[in-house]
Amino acid sequence: MNQTQQAAPAPASSIPNVVSIAGVDPSGGAGVFADLKTFSALGAYGCGVVAALTAQNTQGVTGVHVPPTDFLRLQIDTLYADVRLHATKIGMLGSAEVTATVADRLAHWQAENIVLDPVMVAKSGDSLLAKSAIAMMRDALFPQAFLITPNLPEAGVLLEQRAPETVKEMYRAAERLRELLPTSSARWVLLKGGHLPGNELVDLLFDGDRMVELPAPRIETKNTHGTGCTLSSAIAALLPQHAGLRPVEAAVRQARQWLLGAIAHADELAVGSGHGPVHHFHALWPRPTGPR
Ligand SMILES: Nc1ncnc2c1ncn2[C@@H]1O[C@H](COP(=O)(O)OP(=O)(O)OP(=O)(O)O)[C@@H](O)[C@H]1O
Ligand SMILES: [Mg+2]
Repeated sequence: MNQTQQAAPAPASSIPNVVSIAGVDPSGGAGVFADLKTFSALGAYGCGVVAALTAQNTQGVTGVHVPPTDFLRLQIDTLYADVRLHATKIGMLGSAEVTATVADRLAHWQAENIVLDPVMVAKSGDSLLAKSAIAMMRDALFPQAFLITPNLPEAGVLLEQRAPETVKEMYRAAERLRELLPTSSARWVLLKGGHLPGNELVDLLFDGDRMVELPAPRIETKNTHGTGCTLSSAIAALLPQHAGLRPVEAAVRQARQWLLGAIAHADELAVGSGHGPVHHFHALWPRPTGPR
């Protein structure tokens, strides 16, 4: 089969197919592996395209390997030629060349429901995106994104300003971020407030018209590795499952509610000694009762 041609359609199912195009974190708390857990926990069939490999644990990133972009192109083309994908989550891309390749192939396949997490820095502080890739992301991927999910430092970089430090500053940043997306169609910004100080966190959801404030209590745990990856993949899994008056808002609210549960139960896992993962299957697995 020619990889650039769509195969005959598979029979329809009510279970959405969702793909993560991102990096791999061997500790499974972030990246493609965490995204697959998220899709599985939220009723979507998960696929994964590996854009970068990392050597990483809960304490930090010790190496990054970016496979040849020809092979990334082949992964994307082979998958999209066969599988009808109802949403695409984009995470760590690593370099400008990878970013350009992903943008080119998603445009070719007219990918729908693109949730773009503009990953730049890991929770450990390690850089995950070359500086030269930022302009490429803005120019080639933002026009295709249905929803972008920057955290506060990423918002600062994208807007070439100081990172927002208050909810009031977040309002202005969300408005300016929306201006980086096409104005002619429905596009969304979810500005994540995980880096705000204090006991209450606020995320802002903005479509250019309505600003929705999404407050949540800060949960006291050091195990927050991959919260951003997990949230964006949860939204990608849930977007195709929501209809009705405000489907995007409903998907984002459900994704955040589920993530709060995953953070609240994170300490039940014992994975590494740094920032451990959240508990993706907190709503599905029985509570631990006895010794391991
Ligand atoms: N301790 C916490 N308690 C409750 N919610 C949290 C906590 N930390 C983060 N969140 C929520 O998790 C989501 C991810 O936000 P955050 O700003 O941490 O993303 P991020 O910096 O991209 O994460 P990552 O470092 O995993 O890439 C947001 O909805 C945020 O409000
Ligand atoms: Mg992040």
